[in-house]
Amino acid sequence: MKNQIAYLPGDGVGPEVLAEARRVLELCGRLFDRSFDIVVGAIGGNAIDRYDSPLPPPTIELCKRSQAVLLGAVGGPKWDGVPSAKKPERGLLELRTLLGNYANLRPVYVYGPLANSSNVRPEIVRGVDLVFVRELLGGIYFGTPRARDASRAVDTEVYTVEEVRRVARVAFSLAQSRRKKLTSVDKANVLETSILWRQTVAEVGRDYPDVTVENLYVDNCAMQLILKPKSFDVVVTNNLFGDILSDEAGVLAGSLGMLPSAAIGGFAGLYEPIHGTAPDIAGKSIANPIGAIASVAMMFEHSFKLPEAARRIESAIAKTLDKGYRTRDIYSESAADAASHKLVTTKEMADAICRYIENINAT
Ligand code: IPM
Ligand code: MN
Repeated sequence: MKNQIAYLPGDGVGPEVLAEARRVLELCGRLFDRSFDIVVGAIGGNAIDRYDSPLPPPTIELCKRSQAVLLGAVGGPKWDGVPSAKKPERGLLELRTLLGNYANLRPVYVYGPLANSSNVRPEIVRGVDLVFVRELLGGIYFGTPRARDASRAVDTEVYTVEEVRRVARVAFSLAQSRRKKLTSVDKANVLETSILWRQTVAEVGRDYPDVTVENLYVDNCAMQLILKPKSFDVVVTNNLFGDILSDEAGVLAGSLGMLPSAAIGGFAGLYEPIHGTAPDIAGKSIANPIGAIASVAMMFEHSFKLPEAARRIESAIAKTLDKGYRTRDIYSESAADAASHKLVTTKEMADAICRYIENINAT
């Protein structure tokens, strides 16, 4: 069976990390006997330059025909002056809407050898294994009215019961398959949307009696994530809070460059690393490709129902880190680590991962 994948490298480090993710995708395709048609499309700043639109019609058509979309990152200072409706980021938001992916899974997993790479103490981060389920198509990102003039600007947070229900169901069933704890994050002491959110999560929870629900205010959650990250299993929250908290949690994993994501619920999954375009390091071959490569693992799991391939990629990433391969963002200069750590480029990191995907016992 042939599956089409839309390949959207985007801007900044996007193309560099995605090229490595693609190698992993093709390698696993060979190993697991699947062939993929990988078709390149433009999105974000480079699409503005070429088509005067951050999500041009050819990319829309490509994504509509694809089973999955693999994306790098969009944006950069070059397009700062572009009007809001045409910003690179708008292309990504429109793409999420087009695909209908309302649930964004953002796992935060701390690989043992990286417990020392975090700015948070190793005993706090070692063993962290949590997943954000971020609502992706609603809230203040999309609500109307939305306007700005010279003296005043408006954004609007809106949620319907059905929007909360559908993402809550994804979060509950994920919790069921894990440690059966769900934390719902809101600001119900202040916001009407949050009161509706909390009530709806409680109502959906009746169908999942084996899952324990905890409600946290977002300010408290931001603190608990650093104080007691191991207390979290699945965290469900709205679009804006999920955006902010998942970057914060990147600190736990040692680097934002480690984190993958999957946007699901629509007709084709969208897979992308959580990190941005990192214009300061673009083109230098030093970006960490692990977030992008781990996003391919999520693609195998969710779009192609090949969990064996996903596990194979994750084990290879773990082994690569065990063996001391480090891109600059996760490299530690401490004397204790210096002997075992190898500072590598984007491609060398992916080379090692590919080697261990083929043979986990390779040297
Ligand atoms: C993310 C990004 C995007 C978001 C931007 C680029 C629109 O920060 O995926 O986390 O805010 O959703
Ligand atoms: Mn973000």
